[in-house]
Amino acid sequence: MFNKISFKIGFLFFVFILIIEAFIFFTLYTNLANERVEEVMESLLARGNTHRDVLEDYYDHSTIKHVGIMESASEFIVIVTNEQEDVLISSDPVEEEMLSLIEKTKNIPPEGKIVEARWMEQKYIATSSPIMINGEDRGFVYMFAPTDFIKKTIHQLSEQFTIISVITVGLTVITIVILSRFITQPLIRMKEATEQLSKGSHHVSLHTNRNDELGDLANSITKLSNELERMKSERNEFLGSISHELRTPVTYIKGYAEIMNRPQLSREDIVSFSKIIQEEAEKLAELIRNLFELAKMDQHNFVIVRENVKICDVLYSVEKRIRPVLSEKNIHLTVNCPDGLEAYVDPNRLQQVLLNILDNARKYSSKGSQIIIDALETDDYMTIAIQDEGEGIPKDDLPYVFERLYRVEKSRSRHSGGSGLGLPIAKEIVMSHGGKMTIDSELGVGTTVTIILPKGE
Ligand SMILES: Nc1ncnc2c1ncn2[C@@H]1O[C@H](COP(=O)(O)OP(=O)(O)OP(=O)(O)O)[C@@H](O)[C@H]1O
Ligand SMILES: [Mg+2]
Repeated sequence: MFNKISFKIGFLFFVFILIIEAFIFFTLYTNLANERVEEVMESLLARGNTHRDVLEDYYDHSTIKHVGIMESASEFIVIVTNEQEDVLISSDPVEEEMLSLIEKTKNIPPEGKIVEARWMEQKYIATSSPIMINGEDRGFVYMFAPTDFIKKTIHQLSEQFTIISVITVGLTVITIVILSRFITQPLIRMKEATEQLSKGSHHVSLHTNRNDELGDLANSITKLSNELERMKSERNEFLGSISHELRTPVTYIKGYAEIMNRPQLSREDIVSFSKIIQEEAEKLAELIRNLFELAKMDQHNFVIVRENVKICDVLYSVEKRIRPVLSEKNIHLTVNCPDGLEAYVDPNRLQQVLLNILDNARKYSSKGSQIIIDALETDDYMTIAIQDEGEGIPKDDLPYVFERLYRVEKSRSRHSGGSGLGLPIAKEIVMSHGGKMTIDSELGVGTTVTIILPKGE
């Protein structure tokens, strides 16, 4: 529970909001309370000053008495003293605290003064206003207000604040719970989905029409699961194809080896069977070598050693190597290469790519046809196009020829000895150089394979 993200988010929010609310409420409360207290004190002083003003005008016994009578009905207490601070009259019974305060009070300015402001500790707050007639001190008007009254007001204020605080905290908690649910519910669903993914169920769908980060995450997970699903089925297909590819030569080898054990075989038969066995074993070795190469590429264990290469030299050396096999089928090869074309590539790998493509052009072309290699360069890239006049590839098959072990017609390449790894290997090599490889073909007309490579440094 405490480890849940909803709790963590909620708790964090709660603490934050609580601190902010506490701060705001505290400031508001102290300001309000202080204002109230000040108001009471100011009005007490004003009241005292009014009595003093009256007394300054009519300073006689009956007016003094009158002041006392006036305040006896109010919640305030008035005490009028002479200049020696002896009590002349008081509206209510004089208490010990009042007397000691009067005794302590010295130096009152003409506009009067608050002489006791400690409303929290004392029973009364008090003000004093001096009576001056013709510049002579004639006495003082002391006003007292019981602090119970202020305390009651402040108490009411705090009660109101408590109620408001409780309501606010409650609302905050509710908001946070809803908010954290809103955020964490989709996260929980995604967590469950990824758990399912890791358990092997590769199809999860997290359909969401949110267009925020959580929506993006859900879409990414769905995409990931689709990708996993695709990879799984691709792997199964690949394993199926491999075992099939391996089974065929092994069946041949086994079959011919058995036949060779028979008695009364002619010398020629033995020679021809052992030749078949040898050929099949070679095919097997080639297949395994290619598969191993692809596996290395997948693990990025595949090293390319780049150097500045004169591309035309590579093309001419490839031409020289393949010319003998081409002439067996009377195929004519033309190489068009602009002088001085250079690129920063691995020459051996580039040669491998070209040989794979030319080997296809040769295998799937009829006698007497033509193959043309065109090299071109732009600012940053160079292009090598290999065009043949062979049988071509059907449109439906074209998107798949770069897939491992894919062959257009199984019979076609069985008799030509292919296993469907030539193009995928070539493409991997080109891609590891940061390049691109495309194929165009028309059935019965011919095929063009194009390699685009960055020229590099
Ligand atoms: N130039 C081409 N003309 C016609 N078909 C082609 C051509 N290049 C490739 N193909 C078709 O594409 C398939 C895949 O080619 P790829 O080079 O990958 O395999 P392969 O030649 O059959 O076997 P491998 O290259 O492993 O010996 C081939 O089986 C062939 O049917
Ligand atoms: Mg091939």
